[in-house]
Amino acid sequence: MASSYAVELRGLWKSFGAVSALRGVDLELKKGEILALLGDNGAGKSTLIKILAGVHRPDRGEMIVDGRPVDFRAYSVSQARAMGIETVYQERSLGERQPLWRNVFAGRPLKNRLGFIDARREKAETMKLLSDVLGLKGAGLHADASVLTLSGGERQGLVIARAMYFDASIIVLDEPTTALAVSEVEKVLQFVARIRAAGKSCIFISHELPHVYRAADRFAVLERGRIAVVLDKSAVTLDGLMRRLMTGGEGDELA
Ligand SMILES: Nc1ncnc2c1ncn2[C@@H]1O[C@H](COP(=O)(O)OP(=O)(O)OP(=O)(O)O)[C@@H](O)[C@H]1O
Ligand SMILES: [Mg+2]
Repeated sequence: MASSYAVELRGLWKSFGAVSALRGVDLELKKGEILALLGDNGAGKSTLIKILAGVHRPDRGEMIVDGRPVDFRAYSVSQARAMGIETVYQERSLGERQPLWRNVFAGRPLKNRLGFIDARREKAETMKLLSDVLGLKGAGLHADASVLTLSGGERQGLVIARAMYFDASIIVLDEPTTALAVSEVEKVLQFVARIRAAGKSCIFISHELPHVYRAADRFAVLERGRIAVVLDKSAVTLDGLMRRLMTGGEGDELA
């Protein structure tokens, strides 16, 4: 039977020398949900998603992707991608001087029957991506445009669209709205909503609580390497969530 979870994490531990970054993390990501991962600087958020992305190997614990246990000895960044897990790190993920279509297919080119890169098809697919996936039809964007002509929000959109194009089932966004203007944040939140509409799952890391609150279905709070609480959106207001994060849950009222 197909699992209702995109990912299940069980008892994950990870240390860097004397620093215990993760101390027994249990967490589930449901299919078709946007899960916010919250917590202070140094709480372990990036460490957690890097385990998911195949960058770090945990010292202990299990990861189950769509019902199948992952063998960490054979797990890597490329294996994670092959399993449909795409991580969007800020900035670094686009070649600014390259046209959009090259960015979409970098490292994963479309080839023709002779084995050469099929630039025409890559451009056509990029145009389709811009209109169908991003809804940027008529916005004057062309596959030949350079990334430099995209706004910050559109850049985030392009990497999200690229992940969806390659059929990622889990898209991890690390601080996608940080340092964006208000109108740009709106765009990113709309792109994130498209992830859910496509039935895919998303982990959304952000310190910008009002943005996360609008985007996410559930909120997982990491504190010093442990999941302190997981809250459904229906169980907490934005103010309650803010207070929860500020006080670390000491005698709090969430509603
Ligand atoms: N590669 C590394 N080598 C050594 N220590 C590390 C490494 N990566 C993370 N750490 C430590 O592990 C702890 C958790 O760090 P992590 O980056 O996961 O936190 P975070 O929740 O993502 O914080 P932020 O919100 O600041 O991004 C911190 O104490 C950090 O210094
Ligand atoms: Mg981090």
